[in-house]
Amino acid sequence: MSRTLPIIEPFRIKSVEPIRMSSRAQREEWLAECDGNLFGLHAEYVLIDLLTDSGTGAMSSEQWAAVMRGDESYAGSRSYLRFEAAVHDVFGYEHVIPTHQGRAAEHFLFQALVKPGDVVPNNTHFDTTRANVEACGGEALDLPCAELHDTTSSFPFKGNMDLDWLRSVLSGPCHIPLVMMTLTNNAGGGQPASLENLRAVRALCQEFDVPLYLDACRFAENAWMVRVREEPDRPVREIAREVFSLADGCTMSAKKDGLANIGGFLAVRDAKLAQRIRRELVITEGFPTYGGLAGRDLEAVAQGLAEVLEDDYLAYRSASIRYVVRSLDERGVPVVRPAGGHAIFLDAARFLPHLDPGEYPGQALAIELYLEGGIRTCEIGSVMLAHRDPSTGEEIPARNELVRLAIPRRTYTKSHLDYVIEVTTRVFEQRDEIRGVCILEAPEVMRHFGARFGRCEEHSCASG
Ligand code: F0G
Repeated sequence: MSRTLPIIEPFRIKSVEPIRMSSRAQREEWLAECDGNLFGLHAEYVLIDLLTDSGTGAMSSEQWAAVMRGDESYAGSRSYLRFEAAVHDVFGYEHVIPTHQGRAAEHFLFQALVKPGDVVPNNTHFDTTRANVEACGGEALDLPCAELHDTTSSFPFKGNMDLDWLRSVLSGPCHIPLVMMTLTNNAGGGQPASLENLRAVRALCQEFDVPLYLDACRFAENAWMVRVREEPDRPVREIAREVFSLADGCTMSAKKDGLANIGGFLAVRDAKLAQRIRRELVITEGFPTYGGLAGRDLEAVAQGLAEVLEDDYLAYRSASIRYVVRSLDERGVPVVRPAGGHAIFLDAARFLPHLDPGEYPGQALAIELYLEGGIRTCEIGSVMLAHRDPSTGEEIPARNELVRLAIPRRTYTKSHLDYVIEVTTRVFEQRDEIRGVCILEAPEVMRHFGARFGRCEEHSCASG
């Protein structure tokens, strides 16, 4: 009788980086020094760093070898040509413009297309994407499918766009310079969009003559989930190719599915648009054959794009996220289902039902995960996403109070993940003791990066 063998890490470790152990008392002290904001911690005070999967993964021996082959010529370097060929091969767009990371690609695309008063629909904007649309005077409009907000639903494609909503926006009076789809939907749980939904979005864009662009940061994870959940017999590379064929171009952060520590690009079909953007690029990013990157960075991305679509890698990546989601779910911990592509999302509203949104349950939970086991995570709830009612000035909470455990690629072993499961379960067992937090001070824009937090009971804030 043949039984399937477990999926294992499809690599062995050649170079290691020590993790510094610490005690709860030390962590209490370090956290107080940065006023409860985990972005303020020194990284060496963290045991398992799940703040982001962006640029924090391990590179392969082939990537490091490619780094050594980097050609640092200012113009027309060999490394740029290799990078361009790798992007052509996977994405299929003719014009490839390197940028130092994804948000720079967003900046150039929106600068070229978005005018004040325009509306940009997206399944869900990531925070830098939203900020870049708004910086051009546009309105960033999220049109996620209804299933997204039900963290208990196991709908397989919560990254889909709501098609009826998109149709009504496209038929309305607002000027829409482009529609965007974020693959996967990061802010909503790393959930994929289906090929069926992408084809329908494309058809609507064609009907209304509006270009479609992809935020392709996690395109390989999206393609893998399409393969597992929608089109099981198709090679993942072919699925990715079809996805890109449906759009007019994409922005890309190579810090995610480029498997690199830095880098990004903008790839488009429209030659005139590419020319306009290249002119702008020289002013702030650099010459169009390096766009703010060193030749060695371009090499690392080119090699990363070849590795990220390997079945063994994607099967392991997806199995490791599923393993944590399933283990936490079995222990009763409220976790977003089904498992997404790059992260485990805890539902802090169900985890800490005794806290109101104004007591920032996501931040309170993130703090507790750090104090209990030195795990650094990221709140994606009302600290990050609440907004003010323009007439009353009152804070309107986010739709969901989530905590993201983003898993850097090829970096932590299964035993590290077992540790994460154990720490999270312990925090869950002590959930009734966890108190809310309040914001003492915060910057106007992207306040999660700079906010100072206090304990509600120690400050005379409204919710304390
Ligand atoms: N789009 C999405 C969906 C992202 O998740 C990110 C970055 C960006 C664009 C911007 O790319 O960082 O290269 O400028 N997300 C990181 C995260 C920061 O932690 O999720 P970038």
